[in-house]
Amino acid sequence: MTAVSGARLLEVDDLRVEFGRGPDTAHVLNGVGYHVDEGETLAVLGESGSGKSVTAQTIMGILDAPPGRITGGSVRFRGEELLGADPERRRLLRGESMAMIFQDALSALNPVYTVGFQIAEQFRFRRGMSRRDAMVRAAEMLDLVRIPNAQQRVKEYPHQFSGGMRQRAMIAMALALDPELLIADEPTTALDVTVQAQIMELLDEQRRERGMGLILITHDLGVVAEVADRIAVMYAGRIVEHTDATTLYAHPGHPYTRGLMESVPRVDSGAGGVAGAPLRPIPGLPPSLAAIPNGCPFHPRCASAVDVCTDEVPPLREIGPASATQHATEHQAACHFAERFAAEGSDRPSTQEVVSR
Ligand SMILES: Nc1ncnc2c1ncn2[C@@H]1O[C@H](COP(=O)(O)OP(=O)(O)O)[C@@H](O)[C@H]1O
Ligand code: SF4
Ligand SMILES: [Mg+2]
Repeated sequence: MTAVSGARLLEVDDLRVEFGRGPDTAHVLNGVGYHVDEGETLAVLGESGSGKSVTAQTIMGILDAPPGRITGGSVRFRGEELLGADPERRRLLRGESMAMIFQDALSALNPVYTVGFQIAEQFRFRRGMSRRDAMVRAAEMLDLVRIPNAQQRVKEYPHQFSGGMRQRAMIAMALALDPELLIADEPTTALDVTVQAQIMELLDEQRRERGMGLILITHDLGVVAEVADRIAVMYAGRIVEHTDATTLYAHPGHPYTRGLMESVPRVDSGAGGVAGAPLRPIPGLPPSLAAIPNGCPFHPRCASAVDVCTDEVPPLREIGPASATQHATEHQAACHFAERFAAEGSDRPSTQEVVSR
C-alpha cells in the first residue's frame, strides 16, 4: 500500500449495461461508478456474476456488443469520454494508455506463435521496430517479469510455459507499451497459492515503479488484502461499498462486505475474516440479473433485513467515519443501516451474532 496523491486517471460514472431483450433482459450493470488515480491500486471485489468483468470490458472498449448494450453512464480516461468515442481512438488507447490481463493466460495467448513473437508484435506494429529489434525488446520484457533464461524462453511456445510463467508473459505483453492503467481481471485465480503471491508482488512492484494505476478484480478478499489502497465491493451490478482498505476491514458498513470477510480465511491480524470465528459462507445465491429483487438487492440473503429493505433501494451514500480514530476521507455504502454496521466493526461483532455462533 502507498500514500496516494496521483492525478485522476479513470472515472467511471453511473455505468449501465444490459444483455438480451424483453422480459429476459439481464440488467448486468445498474449504475456502476469508481475511479482510479495514478499510482494506486483499486480492488474490485464481488462474487462471480456481479459484473466485475463486464465493467472492465466496457472500460477497455472490448464489451461483447451485441449481445451487450451500454444504456447509460460514462467512462472518462484523463477527462476524455470514451463511451461513443471513435473505435480507432479506442484501439489506440488500448495498449498505449490502458491494458488488461485475464484469468486464463493460456487462452489469451495464441498457441501457434512463440511467446516472444506475440510480445514483439506490439513493438513492430505500434513502435515501428524491425522484427529483430522487437524480439530483443520482447526478451527484455520477459526478463523484467522475471522469467528465467529469457533469451531462450522468448523462442518457446505458450504450452512450454507453466501457468505462472504464462501469466508473467501476459503481464509482459500488457506492460510492453507502458500503459498508465492496468486492469488485472482475476489474474491469479487459476494459480496455486505460492505463485499467486508472486504474481501479486510482481503487479504491485510494476505499479509502484511505473506510477501506473492498477485495477485488481477478484472474488477473493484474501488475495487483495496486502496490496489494495481502496476497495469497491460489487453486488448484482452495483457498487455496494467503497472505501480505503483499512476502513473496509475494520468497519464494513454493508452486510454483504461483512459476509465476504467471514467467508474467507483470515490472512493476518489486520485483514480478512473475523478473529476466532469459523468460516461462514454467505447463504443463498446472487439474484438473477433478469429479476433483481425489489428494494435492497441483497435482502433475500441478508440476516439483518427488515421491512424497509424490501421496499426501498438503499442508494450508495457517504456514511462518514465510523470511529473517532478513523482517517477515512470517504466511505460509501448502499445499506439503510450502514452507519450502525460500520460502527459495530468487524472485530467487535454484536452480542446477537456472538450468541448465534
Ligand atoms: N457475453 C455475454 N452474453 C450474455 N450475458 C453476459 C455476457 N457476458 C456477461 N454476461 C452477463 O453478465 C453477468 C456478469 O458477468 P461478469 O461481469 O463476467 O461477472 P463477474 O466478472 O463479476 O464474475 C453474467 O452473470 C451474465 O449474466
Ligand atoms: S439495506 Fe437491509 S437488506 Fe440491504 S444490506 Fe442493509 S440491512 Fe441488509
Ligand atoms: Mg469476471
